[in-house]
Amino acid sequence: MAGFARETMALAILLFAILACSAELQRFESPAKPDGSLSILVVGDWGRKGQFNQSQVATQMGRIGEELDIDFVVSTGDNFYEDGLTGVDDKAFEESFTDIYTSKSLQKQWYSVLGNHDYRGDVLAQLSPVLRNIDSRWLCLRNFILNAEIVDFFFVDTTPLVESYWTNPEDHHYDWREVAPRENYIPNLLKDLDAALKESTAPWKIVVGHHTMRSVSDHGDTPELLALLLPVLKDNGVDLYVNGHDHCLEHISSKDSPIQYLTSGGGSKAWRGVFTPNSDKLQFFHDGQGFMSLQLTAAAANIVFYDVFGQELYQWSVTKNLHAAE
Ligand SMILES: *[C@@H]1O[C@H](CO)[C@@H](O)[C@H](O)[C@H]1NC(C)=O
Repeated sequence: MAGFARETMALAILLFAILACSAELQRFESPAKPDGSLSILVVGDWGRKGQFNQSQVATQMGRIGEELDIDFVVSTGDNFYEDGLTGVDDKAFEESFTDIYTSKSLQKQWYSVLGNHDYRGDVLAQLSPVLRNIDSRWLCLRNFILNAEIVDFFFVDTTPLVESYWTNPEDHHYDWREVAPRENYIPNLLKDLDAALKESTAPWKIVVGHHTMRSVSDHGDTPELLALLLPVLKDNGVDLYVNGHDHCLEHISSKDSPIQYLTSGGGSKAWRGVFTPNSDKLQFFHDGQGFMSLQLTAAAANIVFYDVFGQELYQWSVTKNLHAAE
């Protein structure tokens, strides 16, 4: 009897521990391929009803997606220009998404974060399951986790972190429903993310957000992300931070940690004509349209950037010593 009580107690403590540290981030699962690999495409800053080369980029994504036999697509936000969606019945959803990414290989799950332009419309519409009924590929949430066996993706809603959207919105309206006040949102997000990263046992940890961490283009760095989010990523051995926001393709390596900053924000309007180097190591920069692929095995990651013609512009690989990572 005493043994049984002790076991029950141990079980109760275990359950409590699981509940206490698994926080609120919603989790999804996507299996790796039977050979243990994973292929994905990443695109950002795209929804312009096909304009500004969005359709050309989409066509090439379809072609490369076929070649790589992709498992899913990641969108880094600014999904619908200029001002998000007006509601769940906004035709822009079909005109900028369903009717554009029509290739067979792109008929996979899309995992999306929100960008600052999405916040200028009805955010709850973009998050609504109603859109999933219209196009089952669509999944956009604020903060969530995707377990894909060899990699855990942590999707982070970065717009609320940026102070100026709150204090100096100019003539824009930001939809802060279910987010405000910022003072509560940020510590909760950082706590949940830190807990989820600490729980992750996948060989690769990738964080996806809309805003830049480091960037040499128009928007440059996002100071709030460097101050608030980056320490959590560095503390937990995150391999890649993947973002949009700047309408370009770029790879920057951190000089004081293994983290790599990857911008894939070339889904439509681009060519900003800005180049401002920073103190981290710039590996690649394309001031134009395009997208990124990511191929992973448990031991290696391979990243390729493509332009609007689907031409390979740059590729970069890294391997992981699985024993050293323990
Ligand atoms: C579309 O892509 C081509 C090739 O890069 C470029 O010359 C053209 O300026 C682009 N159009 C727009 C509107 O960005």
